Amino acid sequence: MKIPQLKTKDFLTLADYSKEDIINLFEYSAQLKREVKKGKFSKVLENKTLAMIFEKNSTRTRVSFETGMLQLGGHALFLSSNEIQLGRGETIADTARVLSRYNDGIMIRTFGHEKVTELAKWASIPVINGLTDSYHPCQALADYFTIYEREKDITKIKLTYIGDGNNVANSLLIGAAILGCDIAVATPKKFEPEYTVVEKAYKLAARSSSKITITNNIDEAVAGADYLYTDVWVSMGQEKETAKKKKIFEKFRIDDKLIRKTGKDAKVLHCLPAHRGEEITDEVMDGKNSIVFDQAENRLHCQKAVMCALMGR
Ligand code: CP
Ligand code: NVA
Repeated sequence: MKIPQLKTKDFLTLADYSKEDIINLFEYSAQLKREVKKGKFSKVLENKTLAMIFEKNSTRTRVSFETGMLQLGGHALFLSSNEIQLGRGETIADTARVLSRYNDGIMIRTFGHEKVTELAKWASIPVINGLTDSYHPCQALADYFTIYEREKDITKIKLTYIGDGNNVANSLLIGAAILGCDIAVATPKKFEPEYTVVEKAYKLAARSSSKITITNNIDEAVAGADYLYTDVWVSMGQEKETAKKKKIFEKFRIDDKLIRKTGKDAKVLHCLPAHRGEEITDEVMDGKNSIVFDQAENRLHCQKAVMCALMGR
């Protein structure tokens, strides 16, 4: 299979892509995954380098990008924002222009989404969003790929997200709206996904026939769900809100009872890291319906596909 082409220089949000673009990435991810299982590695990015800027912690994103680059014949540089001059006030624009002289791509995990768009504006090389306060497109890509692998027709499924209307929820909404699957997002009042994202998702859904439900009612959201998804109640950067959120979110937990309420043998996803006992119980995480570790693995295959598409030209 040929490397899929993307119309954009950068990979910042799924909203920039069509259903066809995403399915092409899935098919290429599947091919790369089969190769890894056979111990074969296509050196599509031989001698290329990816600079990875982290302003927040990471296990999966860091390790999957770094391993992915090595498997593709390239190399990744881990740049903690505390240790590079960005952390001492060098501008994003200058950082972007300098890194563009040495590298073939930049991955960044940061706070405000505008920092990623600023970096992409000044970088002459592709920029990949490795999580902002608003979006986590690499995560949602791997999540829908994990569902795509299990389904004949992804448009027939209903995904229900339970918890905080955060970056992961935002990217899942956009992804569902593009792919044409149904999505319900149940959050406590005042913790719904960003209004602008919901508006964008409704617009995209009008074309794909995806049904979007944003609600505070957990039972309404989970009825008929094929997949349940949750994420931490407190995202990185919100630590001060922990005590308050723990009280407000107490009912927004995936446990065995909630799986039964779907009326189906719903599979359970979590982007990880999980706070076991808070948004998800141990029984569910380690139970037969959990596909969280398949999902985590797929970060590797999907991000390799994205890097090939952006940097392999
Ligand atoms: N899901 C995810 O992005 O994990 P990390 O924070 O460990 O990278
Ligand atoms: N919503 C979480 C996702 C972590 C992968 C956070 O931003 O911390």
